Amino acid sequence: MSEPVTGAFVSGGQSDSARPPRRAFLRTSATALAVGVSARACHAETEKPMVVAVIGVGGMGMNHVRHLAGYPQVEIAAVCDVDANRLALAAAEVENRSGRRPATEQDLRKVLADDRITAVFIATPDHWHTPAALLALEAGKHVYVEKPCCHNIREGRLLVEAARRTGLVVQTGTQSRSSRHVQRAMELLRDGAIGDVLVAKAWNSQRRADIGRTQPSEPPRHLDYDLWVGPAPMRPYRSNMLPAIWRWWHDFGCGDMGNDGVHDLDLARWGLGVTEHPVKVAAMGGKYFFEDDQQFPDTQNVLFEYRTAGRPRQLVFEQRIWSPYKQEGYENGNAFYGTKGLLVLGKIGGFHLYGARNKLLESMEGQPDLPAHHQNFFACIRSGERPAADAEIGHLSAALCHLGNIAIRTDSRLEFDSDREQITNHAPANELVRRDYREHWSSRLLL
Ligand SMILES: NC(=O)c1ccc[n+]([C@@H]2O[C@H](COP(=O)([O-])OP(=O)(O)OC[C@H]3O[C@@H](n4cnc5c(N)ncnc54)[C@H](O)[C@@H]3O)[C@@H](O)[C@H]2O)c1
Repeated sequence: MSEPVTGAFVSGGQSDSARPPRRAFLRTSATALAVGVSARACHAETEKPMVVAVIGVGGMGMNHVRHLAGYPQVEIAAVCDVDANRLALAAAEVENRSGRRPATEQDLRKVLADDRITAVFIATPDHWHTPAALLALEAGKHVYVEKPCCHNIREGRLLVEAARRTGLVVQTGTQSRSSRHVQRAMELLRDGAIGDVLVAKAWNSQRRADIGRTQPSEPPRHLDYDLWVGPAPMRPYRSNMLPAIWRWWHDFGCGDMGNDGVHDLDLARWGLGVTEHPVKVAAMGGKYFFEDDQQFPDTQNVLFEYRTAGRPRQLVFEQRIWSPYKQEGYENGNAFYGTKGLLVLGKIGGFHLYGARNKLLESMEGQPDLPAHHQNFFACIRSGERPAADAEIGHLSAALCHLGNIAIRTDSRLEFDSDREQITNHAPANELVRRDYREHWSSRLLL
């Protein structure tokens, strides 16, 4: 079944039987469900302002703040960050743009306890995404969570289950799902413009910076480092973890496959029309270029094989983050290979559709549309529909980056049981489907 082009219903439908226990959610499910229903009802018939908070106001969080503060129907009641400097900058930004000073909190629990707040935007580092989202859903808040929506596969499943249990809206930050040119490309693929799409490719090809080599040091005084680490295992602070460089450390990020790559993987999966996990994963890669502290590969090629209704399909991922040039017109892009033609798509740029003998049939320019993705989120809160990048969509796409990284870390070819979400042929690799959490209030719903 192909995914819908707009933010309509997407069926879940995966077996629950062999998944880890979720005691906390079973305990709270009845309350949470009631909260979800009333949260939906409360916005269904009114156009009253949507009161929101932004949790994590670094690079992307500030991007959300700038947009949200400009929407007439939205009030940013609070900003939250464990870094006092960033918190102050965000509060000033909200006040400058909207004329209203938001509350400032370092501890997200205080945001979640505010009954006025309907929805939270989570733009923390990846290791906080699902823990914060689960707590927010339990508190009855709709959630917009940055991509990848989870730091490992099990977290993604817990997020989907929590979204379904509570009935609240979960939107993943893959905003290209709401871009008109991407939606048009997907319409064409779904309508058979290039025949049967048997192979899709995603590439992440750009030039990243060297992060150097450092030794552990004291965290800056304006940062609550213990809270920054939150549910992850405690690691000593290093100056090349912040800002934003945590992406390249296993405990906190997902490498560039889970950073920019997940946007392109998500579109490849959408265009391929697959709404389950792959059954086989083969990968090769490593650090071919950088000689720094990065723990993830700078060069990574991953092949995923799907079996959809008995028919094999392949998704190819290429990553070279040392390339100061574009490939096939785009730094990051997708190619869809059909039995009758080819579609090449850049989420930043547009697409070209070619028929037999490379006859150009249609082109369109376009850019990722963050405001449209925000508006889709708000519209779904009001209507109760599933959003364009619902939790299940975010989970299925994030799982690709997790599987690709696991295959590289364990130097193995993986067989994956899509229903049980388990790697069946490699026990050490299967251990990485989940992670260990430290004892911390934020890991309460994950243990
Ligand atoms: N959708 C997109 O196109 C896009 C673009 C860039 C980044 N992102 C995503 O946004 C997220 C943040 O990335 P970034 O580049 O802004 O990183 P960043 O390090 O600049 O910002 C993260 C912020 O979260 C704060 N933080 C950490 N733990 C917190 C907690 N427990 N409570 C509140 N705040 C906390 C940090 O202090 C920091 O200010 C990542 O998941 C990234 O993948 C998405």
